[in-house]
Amino acid sequence: MVIFSNLNQFNLTKIDLENIIEIDSQNFKGLSIWDKEDFLYYITNKNYLFSVIKKDGCIVGFCLSFISSFESELYKIAIKKDFQNLGLAKLLLILHLACLNLKGIKVSYLEVSINNYKAINLYKKIGYKEIKKREKYYYNKEDALVMKLELRIRGLSNPQKPLNNGISPPHTPFKI
Ligand SMILES: CC(C)(COP(=O)(O)OP(=O)(O)OC[C@H]1O[C@@H](n2cnc3c(N)ncnc32)[C@H](O)[C@@H]1OP(=O)(O)O)[C@@H](O)C(=O)NCCC(=O)NCCS
Repeated sequence: MVIFSNLNQFNLTKIDLENIIEIDSQNFKGLSIWDKEDFLYYITNKNYLFSVIKKDGCIVGFCLSFISSFESELYKIAIKKDFQNLGLAKLLLILHLACLNLKGIKVSYLEVSINNYKAINLYKKIGYKEIKKREKYYYNKEDALVMKLELRIRGLSNPQKPLNNGISPPHTPFKI
């Protein structure tokens, strides 16, 4: 199992992109699926952090955050259906948040449908707290929960001095 953050630093193959699009359409059909151009934009734009988890060379999950100054917003996280309930989302999200923290990001926000109990459980497990409810927020009139996590990953919280003299963190994949 390998996790990559800052995917744009690596050679994204056509198959990688196909894997990502498949996972997205499996999980968000009828909600909000993105096409190839959308993903290429997010993967290559410096205002986003795009992380993936690979098994046997295939991408089986991805997550994406928008980054602005010291804050971030988790836009999407999804795991390929056959690989759900194995702890992969938790692993991917923890390492994604650690990468954000290394970049100096202090907070992660997100919005989630009040009916998406799996995702809410995942976020609570990681430590996100509910901060408000947005009534009838989605097009189908579902309410949204807004959640927040202070990024205080042990040893990385409030770095007074960048660990690597301000140079971007090393883009070494995490091997598990
Ligand atoms: C939400 C999602 C990313 C979880 O992925 P996953 O790899 O199955 O999650 P994990 O196995 O890492 O589980 C992490 C935690 O999520 C919660 N969870 C996962 N599956 C669950 C289920 N079927 N029922 C209840 N809670 C569940 C649990 O709290 C779990 O922790 P635990 O196993 O210690 O109890 C996955 O279900 C998914 O891709 N859903 C569709 C896309 C989506 O809704 N994304 C979120 C909004 S962008």
